[in-house]
This record gives sequence, C-alpha cells and structure tokens, in this order.
Amino acid sequence: MAEKQIPIGKVPGEVGALPESMKAWVIREERHGEPLKAFQLEDMPIPEIGATEVLVLVMAAGVNYNNVWAALGTPVTVSQLHKGIDHHIGGSDASGIVWKVGSEVKYWKPGDEVVIHCNQSCGQCPECNGLDPLACAQQKIWGYETSWGSFAQFTKVQAQQLLPKPKHLTWEEAASYALVYLTAYRMLVDQCRLKAGDNVMVWGAAGGLGGFAVQICRLFGANAVGIVSSEEKKKLVMQLGGVGAINRKDYDFARRDNETPDQIKNRAKETRRLGKALREFWNGRDADIVFEHVGQQTFPASVILAKTFGKIVICGATSGFNLDFDVRYLWMRQKQIIGSHFCNAYEANRANQLIVEKKIEPVLGKVFPWEGCAEAHQVMHENRHSGNMVILVQAEKEGMGKTG
Ligand SMILES: NC(=O)c1ccc[n+]([C@@H]2O[C@H](COP(=O)([O-])OP(=O)(O)OC[C@H]3O[C@@H](n4cnc5c(N)ncnc54)[C@H](OP(=O)(O)O)[C@@H]3O)[C@@H](O)[C@H]2O)c1
Repeated sequence: MAEKQIPIGKVPGEVGALPESMKAWVIREERHGEPLKAFQLEDMPIPEIGATEVLVLVMAAGVNYNNVWAALGTPVTVSQLHKGIDHHIGGSDASGIVWKVGSEVKYWKPGDEVVIHCNQSCGQCPECNGLDPLACAQQKIWGYETSWGSFAQFTKVQAQQLLPKPKHLTWEEAASYALVYLTAYRMLVDQCRLKAGDNVMVWGAAGGLGGFAVQICRLFGANAVGIVSSEEKKKLVMQLGGVGAINRKDYDFARRDNETPDQIKNRAKETRRLGKALREFWNGRDADIVFEHVGQQTFPASVILAKTFGKIVICGATSGFNLDFDVRYLWMRQKQIIGSHFCNAYEANRANQLIVEKKIEPVLGKVFPWEGCAEAHQVMHENRHSGNMVILVQAEKEGMGKTG
C-alpha cells in the first residue's frame, strides 16, 4: 500500500514509489501580499504526468524573484494563468531525481540526477521547430506561469527541461543557478554576441543574474564592472572576475517619481559622474553593453552610459516597468535596446556544460531548511541577500549529492 506521505529530507528507497500526497508551499489569490504571509504549507496531490512529461523528486529548490512577484500578486495574479488550477506552487529552479517518466520520454529514466531549466513550450509549432521555443505562443516559465513548481516534494516538468546534474556539485549548489545563469547567458552570448575586450556594465552584480553576468564576461575575456550597494558586494564582484566594482550609493543617478527640474539636472550630472568612474576601469572607454534588469530607476542612466552604437540588454524591471528616458541618446548615438527572456533548451545545455567543466561556478548565498521558503522570499523582497538562495527539500542537509 502507498505511504501517505514521505518525510521531508529523506529519499525513499524505491525509486518511482509514489505516496498518496505531498507537502508543498502554496500561494493562493486570497492571501497575496508580503511573501511571509502569501506562502503557506499545504498537503497537495502528486501531479499527474503526460506522455512527454517527467515527475522529479525535488532535492533542493532555488529561490528567484519571480515568486516574490507571485506572492505579491503583481503585476499579475499567476494562478489565473494556470488553466483549471486555483493554486500556485512556485519554484523555477531545482535539483532532483527523475522519479517517473511519461510513455514518450526518450532520453531520461527513473533514477537520473538532474537540474531543471524553466522554459516550457508546446514543442510542435513552427516556432518551436525552426525559430526558437521562446517564440512559441504557449511558451511559459515553469513554476511561475505554471503551477507544480519546485517548492514541493515532487514537481512536474517537460522532458526537454532536464539537464544533467554536474557531478561535482551538492544538491543545493545544483539547484541554485539555472534560471539566472541561463538568462544571463542568452542576454550576453546570444543576444549581444559578447566578445573578448567588450566593456560590460552590470547592474546588481552581486545578485542572482549579475553574479553570472560577471563570470560570463570573465570567461569570454570581456571587462565587467559591477554596480552594487555595499562594500562587501564589491568584494564579491571582484572575486567573480569583475575588473571593477562601484557602490551605487555614492551616486545620485536614480530616476524618481515627481522629480523637480533641479532633481532632473542633478540626476544628469550624477550619471555623467558615474560614467567617468566607469571609464577609469576601461582605459577611458565606455560600455559596449549595459546589462539591465532593474528598470525604472536605472534605465535612463543605462541609455546614457552605453557607448555610441552600444547595446542595452534588458530582462526585468525590479524597480518598476514603466520606463522613461531621453530618447535622443538612443537615436543620435545609434544604440540598441534588446529585450531578452530566459533561454531555449539548446542554450541551456551549452551553458550547463560550462558548469560541468567548472568554467562557471554557482554563487550560492544562504541555504534555508524546507521551513524557510516564505522567509527566503521575504529576504529577497527586502534585498537583504547576495548570490542565489536555496531551500532544501528532500536533501537531508547541506553538502550532500556530490558524485564526482
Ligand atoms: N526575464 C527573465 O528571464 C528573468 C530572469 C531572471 C530574473 N529576471 C528579473 O530580473 C530581476 C533581477 O533578478 P535577480 O534574480 O538578479 O534578483 P536579485 O538577486 O534580487 O538581484 C538584483 C539586484 O539588483 C540590484 N537592485 C535592486 N534594486 C535596485 C535599484 N533600485 N537600483 C539599482 N540596483 C538595484 C540589487 O543589487 P544592489 O543592491 O547590490 O545594487 C540586487 O542584488 C528581477 O526583477 C527578476 O524578476 C528576469
């Protein structure tokens, strides 16, 4: 007879054996708000898988900003995106063990140790089969725009989302990197065609995306200067391979609501002063690429600070998504703004291989026990973290899971 539930922190002896239900951290529309309140522990059914899907036992789950947005219920109520499902089990990063595979899954079997990338698409349309799965009309981010994410004992994913777990990593390290690293990889490598010698300005360079942007630049021979908000974070940027780091608190460049004409003038002056500080790290040259995800408060500065013919690549807007900027800097100096969103399975595999080869390292921040899921999202919401935070699920404790 099936066990009622498996205990947290234990891997059942028999791969594939399913309990009757599972524990999950669930967000529901009626409790949207601060993450500490929005995430609640519930007993949930084990998700059923289709022919091309896989059920994974989650060993550790990575924390991302998307489920801060999901908790707040802004800019959208995510559970309304889940057809016929009234709950949201978030979590767009995980390491785990393949537990059950659908009848048409070819490349994976129960017992395989995996990392999961978060892009889902239909797999059958022309866009999936010739352009890019990110262009699929049904493209979704697993664990944000879908339910059954990784803040649960089991998660349901498409087979194409699986990546081999790098053997030298612990479960928590393996769960920490995919969403942010793979996003940064596409932004720089494929969207901006990053080259040796490029100067790259990285906002939030000690955060999730930024820590990987800095490492990718180092690997490609590009010169990353990281913008951060503390002296400790400056040190982390240099450890990751930045050629320089700047504390943004020393410059009053941020775009604010209801600015007076004097404040606008001062912001322009402070942005020029920031540009001068950047050029000191780049032998007097400007940024070929500005790596953006902060949005409203930084975007006007980003447009000015990219060099003539430079690129501003953007994938997010933590400080607000209605951007305004002086467009003259864009057209007169022929700069490009490039939107980017996660990555496709091919990019995910190529980038994961760089982790397997130890050319890129996870940037593990705080590891929380299973009980800490809501707290970890609160910490992220309040910007009290650095690196990538992880929740242990079936991994008993930190440090486990290395096999090579
Ligand atoms: N579209 C996609 O595929 C995709 C993928 C990943 C993330 N995102 C989005 O990108 C954003 C960042 O994600 P993340 O995981 O890197 O988050 P994160 O770990 O919180 O890092 C973001 C960093 O931005 C900096 N920052 C925050 N507010 C700022 C402000 N007002 N001005 C300047 N810097 C500020 C902070 O660094 P300092 O305080 O040190 O400056 C923070 O460490 C989120 O909005 C997320 O939803 C999108």
